[in-house]
Amino acid sequence: MVSELLRAARYEKTAIAAFNCSAFDSMAGVAMAAKESGVPVIIQTSAALVATLGTALPKGWFDLVKKHICSDCYLHLDHCQDLVLLKNCIDAGWDMVMYDGSADKIEDNCRNITAVIAYAHKNNVAVEGEVGGVMGEESGSKSSNAYASARDVSMLAQCGPDCLAIGFGNVHGSYKTKETLNWDVLVQAGKTTELPLVLHGGSGLTDTEFFKAIDAGCAKINISTELKRVYAKAVKNSTTSMEVVIQPLKLHSELMQLTMETALNFITIFRGRKNANGKF
Ligand code: 13P
Repeated sequence: MVSELLRAARYEKTAIAAFNCSAFDSMAGVAMAAKESGVPVIIQTSAALVATLGTALPKGWFDLVKKHICSDCYLHLDHCQDLVLLKNCIDAGWDMVMYDGSADKIEDNCRNITAVIAYAHKNNVAVEGEVGGVMGEESGSKSSNAYASARDVSMLAQCGPDCLAIGFGNVHGSYKTKETLNWDVLVQAGKTTELPLVLHGGSGLTDTEFFKAIDAGCAKINISTELKRVYAKAVKNSTTSMEVVIQPLKLHSELMQLTMETALNFITIFRGRKNANGKF
């Protein structure tokens, strides 16, 4: 189960890479990277994607890549406040869901996540919670900035989630400044709970910053923006020079290949320093 993988990762001081995917090509590229590395990965869908397409298509794409490319992939629902959508993903067979009540009062966050956990765990689905808030925007999900207090971390951890995202000034999208990052907040969270922590806003952080987060207890690291950049590059590479016509086959192949290379790079970094020779 994904919760055991996350606990083991925190214990080993490594992190599982979690990539936001909104189409079959990117899921396939991420699964190719998992196969190439021999390391499990999390493929995550935004709540906006599921609200737009329903559960059948994303789950169908995921099942295909899991069956035909690499079985060591886990499907996760990123930031979601919508209890109906969460239930739909649990019923449809997602491996993990995130209840993001970080914008609410901690008492409300705790009450709602307790209900989500009860239903999810009955269905063998893991749950990610969040305290504090991640700035910026991720596929329609906006959060205001707040730094997670030790009290809030402790309260949410006691509700029994499988992992916990910590707001410490981290940002979805590009980092215009790193001055917002308060590493003491993350370190304190790691001392407050033994739960695997989750680092959101992975794009734009340096290897040193990733290692610092892993040392503090982060066992899942989310990457979205870097894969969005891959889309722009793939479109450019598959456009003919004479006129602006995209070659569809080239576009799909480029997307898979570039996603694979980008994902593999993050997977390798998150395995940690002891595997710097590239062997797992
Ligand atoms: P980035 O867009 O900064 O990679 O963040 C992704 C994320 O945290 C998704 O929840």
